[in-house]
Amino acid sequence: MEKVLRRTIVALILSCQLTAAAPTQETTQACTDIKGALPGKVLTPGLLAAEYAFETQKYWSIIPRTDGPACIVQPASAEDVSTVIKILLKYPTVQLATRSGGHDPNAGHASIDDGVLIAMTDLVGATYDAAKGLAYVKPGGEWNDVVGDLEPSGVTILGGRLGIVGVGGLLLGGGLSFLTAQHGLAADNIVGWETIMANGSIVNVDATAQPDLARAMRGSGSQFGIVTTFTVKTVPIGDVWGGFCIYDPSQSDALYAALHNFIANGAQDPKAAIIFTDLLLFGGVGTKLVYYFYDGPIPPISGPFADFLKVVSPGCLPRTQKYSELVRANGAPVDLLEARTSFRTYTVPFIPTRPQMYSEMQAKFAEITLPFLTSLRPTSQFSLDFQPLPSVVGKISESKGGNAMGLTSSDPDLVVLEIQGAWLLPEDDAVGYGLSKQLTDWLDKEVPKWLDEAGMNKDVYLPLYLNDAAGDQPVMQSYRDYAELKALQKSVDPQGLWSTRAGGFKY
Ligand SMILES: Cc1cc2nc3c(=O)[nH]c(=O)nc-3n(C[C@H](O)[C@H](O)[C@H](O)COP(=O)(O)OP(=O)(O)OC[C@H]3O[C@@H](n4cnc5c(N)ncnc54)[C@H](O)[C@@H]3O)c2cc1C
Ligand SMILES: *[C@@H]1O[C@H](CO)[C@@H](O)[C@H](O)[C@H]1NC(C)=O
Repeated sequence: MEKVLRRTIVALILSCQLTAAAPTQETTQACTDIKGALPGKVLTPGLLAAEYAFETQKYWSIIPRTDGPACIVQPASAEDVSTVIKILLKYPTVQLATRSGGHDPNAGHASIDDGVLIAMTDLVGATYDAAKGLAYVKPGGEWNDVVGDLEPSGVTILGGRLGIVGVGGLLLGGGLSFLTAQHGLAADNIVGWETIMANGSIVNVDATAQPDLARAMRGSGSQFGIVTTFTVKTVPIGDVWGGFCIYDPSQSDALYAALHNFIANGAQDPKAAIIFTDLLLFGGVGTKLVYYFYDGPIPPISGPFADFLKVVSPGCLPRTQKYSELVRANGAPVDLLEARTSFRTYTVPFIPTRPQMYSEMQAKFAEITLPFLTSLRPTSQFSLDFQPLPSVVGKISESKGGNAMGLTSSDPDLVVLEIQGAWLLPEDDAVGYGLSKQLTDWLDKEVPKWLDEAGMNKDVYLPLYLNDAAGDQPVMQSYRDYAELKALQKSVDPQGLWSTRAGGFKY
């Protein structure tokens, strides 16, 4: 409650500043038209517009919170979104953005300055059709909502590992879940998308009837339309075992050895999953955080997952619990991170003969960030996550019709890196973004050398993972079928509504 109050006050102060920059006449006119068509569902700025101000603050990172849309629409249905799009088609200079959970930290992706923001605030939660084994999932809210709504039926869908994360963006960008080694990316399990297309029509994209469009919608973010309902195959879920452990830096060697072994052999038991996080805190202090998950009440006592658990730490929370309890507990600590944040990603292949590569990456990032973390900025932190993506995932994706990221059964085991930064001051933005970029620039040079030394093929397919990427990274351009997907995008969006006027990664 206190946090909400604090945010509202900040929002009110901001809204006063935001109104200073007047929107263009076309934008104002578009907002007036939308307000007329959807009474009670459109918010505009102004001193007393507390709800408008509050909506502008619903972003995980502080950076997009400074964008001031000319108006914010809170649609209650696909028809409402269709109405908005049809009006926007009459005003070709007006920009727009769609926001579901607002967890994409990139400015201008789910936020917009002087444009129209479509906020999925009122489209939240999931329902279950037991006869069909399908869930109908709304894009707004957070994974805690979806997991909680489905749990009484003994099912779930693949989604965020931290319950606070937004739903719509994750499902459109791919989706790394604790259940990915068993069932593929979260998006691989979507079979229907209620979508507002670029001409304003509502189309129920069906994976069976439109396999090409369906494949493209799994991993293309905002570029094929605005989705108001996802139809998703469910999977059974009961009590699970998991939680996170915090480790002392002295345990690094044992943990990196366990990580290397898990990436190589973890898929032998696809019920086991981890996120391995190297944290770099103020003063350059390093620590490790590993999130553990096992799809069952009792973890195995031998094998790669069990080897991790032999590294004993007093800071360990894993236990048997409901899936909803686990994702809620995983998300709670980072919900409090009130910071300007950055994401950046990189995909590295598993290199069997280079078990030292994780510590090399960590050491490099520690070296890069040290000057910043030892300057007088006590709240800043950086982290490097290692997310194993076993080869079997490509095989599963293919068997379910494929996705835009395009991994197949012939691709090797991969590790998706998530490089995160958090700082407080706007004047540190350039430096903050730059530090993560220094690491990926270094990896651009190092990884080919590592492959060479290992005698491995340098043409290995290494697509970037959209949901973890920085706005300047060429995500779609890294996709195997880029040209084909770009042509398909153009065919459903000939005027370039999504590709030139809306936020997000572009083909
Ligand atoms: C703390 C944290 C934990 C995370 N954990 C995971 C994880 O476990 N697995 C994982 O895969 N990712 C994870 N992510 C990344 C996450 O998937 C992305 O941040 C994703 O964008 C979040 O979805 P959202 O609904 O909040 O997106 P938003 O920020 O609302 O939007 C992201 C993009 O999608 C577009 N978009 C959003 N909704 C729609 C819609 N309905 N129709 C069309 N376009 C839309 C937006 O315009 C924007 O371009 C995590 C992120 C954070 C901050
Ligand atoms: C709108 O676009 C969809 C998908 O591209 C198409 O199926 C439909 O026929 C179009 N509608 C109109 C009225 O042009």
